[in-house]
Amino acid sequence: MDINYDNAKQILKKYNQEHLLICYDKLSTEEKEELIKQILNINFEQILELYEKTKQKINFKDSKIEPISYIDKSKLETKQKEELEEQGIQIIKQGKYAVVTMAGGQGTRLGHKAPKGTFEIGKDIHKSLFEALSDTIKEAQNKYKANIPWYIMTSRENNIDTVNFFEEHNYFGINKQDIKFFIQGQLPMIGTDGKILLNDKGMIKEAADGHGGIFEAMSKSGILEDMKQKGIEWIFIAGVDNVLAGMVDPILAGLAIKRKCLAAGKSVVKNDPKEKVGVFCKKNNKPNVIEYTEITNEMAEAIDQNGELLYGESHILCNLFNIKALEQIAKNKLPYHSAFKKAKYINEEGKLIEPTEPNAYKYEAFIFDAFERLEDMAIMRVKREEEFAPVKNADGVDSPETATKLYIKYLENKKNK
Ligand code: UTP
Repeated sequence: MDINYDNAKQILKKYNQEHLLICYDKLSTEEKEELIKQILNINFEQILELYEKTKQKINFKDSKIEPISYIDKSKLETKQKEELEEQGIQIIKQGKYAVVTMAGGQGTRLGHKAPKGTFEIGKDIHKSLFEALSDTIKEAQNKYKANIPWYIMTSRENNIDTVNFFEEHNYFGINKQDIKFFIQGQLPMIGTDGKILLNDKGMIKEAADGHGGIFEAMSKSGILEDMKQKGIEWIFIAGVDNVLAGMVDPILAGLAIKRKCLAAGKSVVKNDPKEKVGVFCKKNNKPNVIEYTEITNEMAEAIDQNGELLYGESHILCNLFNIKALEQIAKNKLPYHSAFKKAKYINEEGKLIEPTEPNAYKYEAFIFDAFERLEDMAIMRVKREEEFAPVKNADGVDSPETATKLYIKYLENKKNK
């Protein structure tokens, strides 16, 4: 046995996780090496801390929560709109604007077996989410006659399939040099007894560390450095699953600059007070998002003098950051939230268990937890039907069916313009 194995064994003993070597003897030489590497890479103190915190709830009671101010894009006066747009267009034309797509999620609700971005929306459209987003980038590059670098965050689990998909599709006609992939971090999944799980291959069961992992991933993988070298100043970050994400938005950039904010976020007005979305707010005078599980009924229903919801600006995961903000945020880890999930695993007797109910904790950081590290954020309300068509569930709300309808309408409107 080599020194790494002995090291790993000692560490596991210390943290009462010795079961992680239960399948070791049955693994191939490469797998053995990989497992030991995985174990030596785990920060067991962090795992202990995460597990202890799992049952604590974040308490909003001690915080001062207030509505956040926003501007409504559709209500801007023409002159105002043109001024903002012009400022943003300059940024784009000068090559100071980039887009990041977060595509590291598991897409469990959708249930598509490959990376979510490869999912084809709507039967008649035959367009993958990645292709639809590629169209947006290409159109903007043509419109502004500018180079717009596109960075795509993947996970260890889906990186190869994602890169291959772009290769197979010839990068959807985008210059290959303009697209860069980077892999986000991951964390082991933990059972209710605090034991780290083994997957069906006898390796550590890990999962991507949430969209909030983006800041650390961009810093560690050299993406921030790459952006700096290219002279990029403003970075639009959105998920892979909003087929209408307006990723190249000069008005949003102009607004952030005008308001002297290092970040801006797009919102759509909440459909009704009970809609299950997080909303922008101010918490202790800093921008924040309050989740639907945390907002009180009273707050959710409160209205202003115009009859609009006070907390009605839904966070749609479409945000713009200045590079300085990204560097600042990446300096310290974001908190992790736990989700209780169904996870297949090999138990301490070496038996594969396929649970029918949730049995394990997955830990994720959320991108909006970074907002409170900023002094302020410019919020711009956009129209849901123009900029928000998420593909989350296999059917019902926010499904391929609803997204396709919105996408078709968007294509028709564009044709008629
Ligand atoms: P969601 O929170 O909707 O997760 O991610 P998901 O993985 O797509 O779907 P479920 O919850 O498993 O059904 C919103 C966006 O953030 C990205 C997703 O790819 C999606 O674009 N994301 C999420 C990451 O890039 N990494 C993560 O670890 C989590």
